[in-house]
Amino acid sequence: MFADTPQWLLVLVAVYLSIPLMVYFIIPYLCYGTKSTKKRVIIFVLGDVGHSPRVCYHALSFSKLGWQVELCGYVDDTLPKNISNDPNITVHHISNLNRKGGQTSVLFMAKKVILQILSIFKLLWELRGSNYILIQNPPSIPILPIAVFYRLTGCKLIIDWHNLAYSILQLKFKGNFYHPLVLISYMVEMIFSKLADYNLTVTEAMRKYLIQSFHLNPKRCAVLYDRPGSQFQPFPSDISRQETITTESFMKDYIHSDFDIEKGDKIIVTSTSFTPDEDIGILLGALKIYENSYVKFDSTLPRILCFITGKGPLKEKYMKQVKEYDWKRCQIEFVWLSAEDYPKLLQLCDYGVSLHTSSSGLDLPMKILDMFGSGLPVIALNYPVLDELVQHNVNGLKFVDRRELHESLIFAMKDADVYKNLKENIIQETQNRWQANWENTMRQLKLIH
Ligand SMILES: *[C@@H]1O[C@H](CO)[C@@H](O)[C@H](O)[C@H]1NC(C)=O
Ligand SMILES: *[C@@H]1O[C@H](CO)[C@@H](O)[C@H](O)[C@H]1NC(C)=O
Ligand SMILES: *[C@@H]1O[C@H](CO)[C@@H](O)[C@H](O)[C@H]1NC(C)=O
Repeated sequence: MFADTPQWLLVLVAVYLSIPLMVYFIIPYLCYGTKSTKKRVIIFVLGDVGHSPRVCYHALSFSKLGWQVELCGYVDDTLPKNISNDPNITVHHISNLNRKGGQTSVLFMAKKVILQILSIFKLLWELRGSNYILIQNPPSIPILPIAVFYRLTGCKLIIDWHNLAYSILQLKFKGNFYHPLVLISYMVEMIFSKLADYNLTVTEAMRKYLIQSFHLNPKRCAVLYDRPGSQFQPFPSDISRQETITTESFMKDYIHSDFDIEKGDKIIVTSTSFTPDEDIGILLGALKIYENSYVKFDSTLPRILCFITGKGPLKEKYMKQVKEYDWKRCQIEFVWLSAEDYPKLLQLCDYGVSLHTSSSGLDLPMKILDMFGSGLPVIALNYPVLDELVQHNVNGLKFVDRRELHESLIFAMKDADVYKNLKENIIQETQNRWQANWENTMRQLKLIH
């Protein structure tokens, strides 16, 4: 009976009938996928989720506000319970080529990047219709350009600047800024960062740098300082530390019978990855001068038990150096602790030591925060931005070479008032934890109200 109806009319009717289908099913499917009515944020980390505390904090904070959080990253180890038990957070795995035997051939790298890109595209497609995407920088390749294009879907981009990828690469290539990889990385960061909607930085110095060098808009750029993880807590004041160190399983073997913190002996700790930019030699050198002071001038100097935690390329060399020296007042132990024992060790120490220097000169070492969280004053190798974290004689002591470190050690070991004063300030600071700080910053950027 439709035989003499013109064909164009049939097409028109078909189009007309399909409009509701388009409006109610197909367009929403294409534009929103699995999004619910809640605000949704994608958090992307090209690293192990469990080892990225800052990312986990972001996720938990958004979740607390009732947002739908899509956390994308590698999952090498087990996830923190806080993340896996949170009904508002969904974790998505990004596939990862295992770095078998440290392969670094061009072919392998290319394969890795392509696989990563495909995996990222697939995920982003599934998560279409999100309100925000938050990425960490570095790494900037390949995620930064992809995220910038993703903005076309209406998703706003937040970059959390930890450091500058090009400056880390530059360090790898012996400071050569004109190495092609460094240049590419610099260009990617400079160009694509301009296309972000919001920027977070870990330090004021980094913020200033981005505003000056990359010409970011100061209004859309805010500082969000890191905070120590909640597993780092000061040692409870109602328990005897001396008793604990002689019974705690990972520690008691290192405690000699004449070592007594109640008589003023001190435990210090440093954690390191034994790389050339963290010179453990400075600490060992200062401890040798301390030995010398003990032998020649002052037999009342307290004993020092020094823990050096971590693994890395130069470890053997330093272990040999320590073994070959005849220590009288200091005892140096190299340890490698589990993620549960490390916070326990920090609690039991008197001081933390940091030998970290920054490749960009713009970031702050997480490990100092963890020490602060555990209530330890920190004796730190100074570099320009460190002022934002450690203030001399307020929450720590700063030094520039082994001689000054030695002076700081004498000061720190002998003067009980110094310790008391520093400790009080730290305990006050540890109360300033992540969530309040985070909400404040997000409000500043008008991301939340
Ligand atoms: C998840 O979101 C709801 C609101 O949708 C909120 O009430 C709840 O506290 C959130 N859960 C967590 C663990 O933060
Ligand atoms: C999980 O979060 C709660 C409160 O936010 C905290 O008390 C707890 O220590 C956290 N656990 C871990 C493993 O971070
Ligand atoms: C940061 O936010 C500003 C806000 O304008 C935006 O224009 C800029 O492109 C973003 N990137 C940076 C790093 O500022």
